[in-house]
Amino acid sequence: MAADGRRLFFALWPSDEFRADLVSATQALARDSGGRVIPPENLHVTLLFLGSVPSARFAAVQQAGDVCANAPAFTLSFDRTEVWGRANLLCLTTTTLTPPQATVLAEKLRHSLRDEVMATSEHEFRPHITLARDLPRRRRPEPISPLLMKVNDFALVQSQPGPSGSQYSVLSRWPLAS
Ligand code: 2AM
Repeated sequence: MAADGRRLFFALWPSDEFRADLVSATQALARDSGGRVIPPENLHVTLLFLGSVPSARFAAVQQAGDVCANAPAFTLSFDRTEVWGRANLLCLTTTTLTPPQATVLAEKLRHSLRDEVMATSEHEFRPHITLARDLPRRRRPEPISPLLMKVNDFALVQSQPGPSGSQYSVLSRWPLAS
């Protein structure tokens, strides 16, 4: 990480109400997965991961958020769990099509910040909420009752290492237009 860098990402940050619903619907699943459970306060949807951003580029990152403010709001429906990637992440995902407003928002941020976003985040945006990491084994996707997340804003979040894992702080929020 650059000496003055901050580890940043854009995210859809749950409202307190949705976070409470999310936790009650998924905490047993996460606990029983055998993986490292993500603490409730850290649950989020990553829109665009930037990694370490030097302070000289913070203004450009803020500006990318400003450019996307008041884009159309949307709703995400999370209706299944899947295990992803080499880190065996237990993720909440969806069987429904990603709303185009969500894809456009993620792509617009990526495009504005193409010099910041290195090869780490070149994947297409697939909305998910990571519930646990390092599961001891993979498992088949499982359906769950749909959890509807109304997305009325997006956020710039800083990740810092803490004594018990990453600590996230919301630095800025931008509204979406309903
Ligand atoms: P996740 O949403 O799949 O859990 C903050 O570190 C967030 O950014 C994490 O929640 C994580 O993804 C995502 N993230 C971390 N490292 C990443 C990387 N190299 N590429 C893409 N996303 C990453």
